Amino acid sequence: MTPDSRSHELAVVLDFGAQYVQLIVRKVREQNVYCEMRRHDVPLAELLAERPKAIILSGGPASVYGEGAPTVDPKLFEAGIPVLGICYGHQLMAHVMDGNVEPGTTREYGLSQIAIEEDGSDGLFEGIERQPTCWMSHGDHVTAPPTGFRRLAVSADGILAAMGDPDRRLYGVQFHPEVSHTPFGPKLLRNFLYNAAGCRGDWTSADFVDEAVARIRETVGDRRILCAMSGGVDSAVVALLARRAVGERAVCMFIDTGLMRLGEPQQVRATFAPLLGESFVAVEASERFLHNLAGISDPERKRKVVGETFIRVFEEESAKLGDFEFIAHGTLYPDVIESGGGATARIKSHHNVEGLPEDMRLTNVEPLRLLFKDEVRQVALALDLPEEIAYRQPFPGPGFAVRVNGEVTPEKLDIGKRADAIVRQEIEAAGLQREISQYLAALPDVRTVGVLGDDRVHGYPVVIRAVVTDDFMTADWARIPYDVLGRIATRIVNEVRGVSRVLYDVTTKPPATIEWE
Ligand code: XMP
Repeated sequence: MTPDSRSHELAVVLDFGAQYVQLIVRKVREQNVYCEMRRHDVPLAELLAERPKAIILSGGPASVYGEGAPTVDPKLFEAGIPVLGICYGHQLMAHVMDGNVEPGTTREYGLSQIAIEEDGSDGLFEGIERQPTCWMSHGDHVTAPPTGFRRLAVSADGILAAMGDPDRRLYGVQFHPEVSHTPFGPKLLRNFLYNAAGCRGDWTSADFVDEAVARIRETVGDRRILCAMSGGVDSAVVALLARRAVGERAVCMFIDTGLMRLGEPQQVRATFAPLLGESFVAVEASERFLHNLAGISDPERKRKVVGETFIRVFEEESAKLGDFEFIAHGTLYPDVIESGGGATARIKSHHNVEGLPEDMRLTNVEPLRLLFKDEVRQVALALDLPEEIAYRQPFPGPGFAVRVNGEVTPEKLDIGKRADAIVRQEIEAAGLQREISQYLAALPDVRTVGVLGDDRVHGYPVVIRAVVTDDFMTADWARIPYDVLGRIATRIVNEVRGVSRVLYDVTTKPPATIEWE
């Protein structure tokens, strides 16, 4: 269940194994051109049947001379569709036509300055300075472009950096326009899409909302759909789309586990009750979660207990609301790619709401399965959701059950949540909330001695964790100014009873993780 990509101009990225292939797709969409990824060996007829306006060949780790190196059907270049090859894609283009690629003896890796020799009549380099800096990462390189191609740019050490055949609208670049280290990358992609490929740019959040609503209406008809809301942006967007599509036949259930951040359940209720009206059902279950967690210290076991409790509550409460035929999921495009990619791939059931029942025999509806997270945030804003929800940080489904180490007691939960609230307030007061990707407080399961007034207290240390990351797979610790850290520490020990000291975690991921489980 997706918006109809065929009603939009389509750009396709063929994946040759680049680490950054999703990034290319995102960067194209940022230019308002809808883009999807396909395997490099998709049959040409299948690819052409999708009528792409533009095709991008991604980079990849292979050498065109390597055994079993991924290749491309040479007829692609005769199909009249504009093609841009990036790094390996550029070399492959030269190799399968009659150009020449020289195997690299050394790797060129890092920032490089190039000189633009010619703009090409389609303006690939229009509006770009003549000697820009870009990011290169390659071993092989093109020594002779194919017949009909011209040299468009050369790197400082004489390597062909860009080539093009404006008549056939075929281009290759040795550098990576998709990474932030290539500052003119977005402009170059835009030039390719608009100047060379003639795209108009018809992919916007507002259009997405209209189409997603129409699709849900068409699928659900006069039946009922159940949406579980976690308080996060994905499930909130799904719930609002469903409500817009079928009104009160969408039931959006929010379960208060007692494990969310301080004030969050209240915020979820205050935000969504007016927006969703009769469709919004809030269930208070914190006592039950705490009761089930009593005496359990092992983090895996805690996760399991939270998941199971969630399922039980969800099943019991939804059964009270009558029959449903559909269940909404907040599956995103990276999940779709991860489970095999492409429009026809089998979709692994990713739940944005932890522990949603697998066996309720309801039909899945996944309105966000073509979107990236940053696009979901844009859609959230287009749906008039407040920024606090649109830009909400990732939060583990089991919430503070994992941020409080060891057994989850009401006292420890309270300390963890209060300390976390102070971290959030101070980082936001310092205006650092968009610079830091995720920030939180965790409570280790140890006690240390401190002095409070004239008394020795045996309190908990609180750990502050704040990271900067693009993808949450790797992360660096945030360089929070000392005075902000100082204010956080002072406030926590003064305002949160039971805390004797405050620590700042300065470990990167890997080897550490972001959470403090
Ligand atoms: P780690 O701790 O593995 O976390 O570095 C990476 C990112 O994932 C988030 N996270 C979760 N998100 N359910 C979620 O939806 C979970 O169970 C969960 N555990 C970790 C974490 O907050 C970080 O952003």
